[in-house]
Amino acid sequence: EDRSEIPLRPPVVTIMGHVDHGKTTILDYLRKSSVAATEFGGITQHIGAFSVALSSGKTITFLDTPGHAAFLNMRQRGANVTDIVVLVVAADDSVMPQTLEAIKHAQAARVPIIVAINKIDKPEAAPERVKHDLARHGIEVEDFGGDTQVVAVSGKTGQGIKDLEGAISLQSEILDHRAETDGPVEGWVLEATTKKSGRVATVLVRRGNLKQGDILVAGTTWTRVRTLRNEGGITVNAVGPGMPVEVDGWEDQPDAGDEVLEAPDEQKAKDVVDWRIEKEERVKLAKDME
Ligand code: GTP
Ligand code: NA
Ligand code: MG
Repeated sequence: EDRSEIPLRPPVVTIMGHVDHGKTTILDYLRKSSVAATEFGGITQHIGAFSVALSSGKTITFLDTPGHAAFLNMRQRGANVTDIVVLVVAADDSVMPQTLEAIKHAQAARVPIIVAINKIDKPEAAPERVKHDLARHGIEVEDFGGDTQVVAVSGKTGQGIKDLEGAISLQSEILDHRAETDGPVEGWVLEATTKKSGRVATVLVRRGNLKQGDILVAGTTWTRVRTLRNEGGITVNAVGPGMPVEVDGWEDQPDAGDEVLEAPDEQKAKDVVDWRIEKEERVKLAKDME
């Protein structure tokens, strides 16, 4: 099979790390500097995931904290939504218990890690110490001959953030992320909520081209897509692999971590949902009888 025939897709990146090491600050900086943010005058409603367009023309998709929850949920179901983990370690605090947790999760999922040593602007910053601490915990830091990229950044000043984007872009090139854009849509629910306008879910497309009018099944619910919105709340016509989008019109609210599959027609979608609900009820009944 000649993979070069399959279109490239953006890498999907999850940011992990110890509490207060700066995950949200880094994401906020990336979000504000993203094309979407400048085009749409600042992000007010965000959808748990966003994409950053690089000057190279490439795109990176970042999962926000709810995406992190979905990542763990999907991991438990044996699925990997994330291609790359960015491990944030504060330069003044170094490796902490949740740093080690994040390393454990990423390694168990066989997801490559890029280290962002954050808060490099602080006078107490000690990036060399962080590298040594990471090496002692099994991270093969590139400075010491390993192949784990380490980037020094400040989520506060933006220093090194371009290098972080470059490191992600390089890792993605090595991993050669590609996905078919034709055929039925597949994806994951990252998060779901009920708004005044109805039930919406953030869907990360894994393959295919998601369009208005498509019929999707997720868990024990389905939708005929009326509107697709990007992270800026702007209506879009179609969304390809590696991109997140808000999907409306759900019969019921799906759950974070549900797999999304396209159905050929409404009847088929309803049949699948009915069958799954019946199955759930049979399982529950069997449990009650134990
Ligand atoms: P949790 O979500 O609670 O785990 O925290 P977090 O990892 O998202 O950290 P957050 O972005 O909330 O940052 C924690 C604190 O560190 C805040 O007071 C930030 O302003 C500060 N901070 C984050 N990044 C930097 C940085 O690069 N430099 C400096 N000086 N402060 C930073
Ligand atoms: Na915090
Ligand atoms: Mg945070």
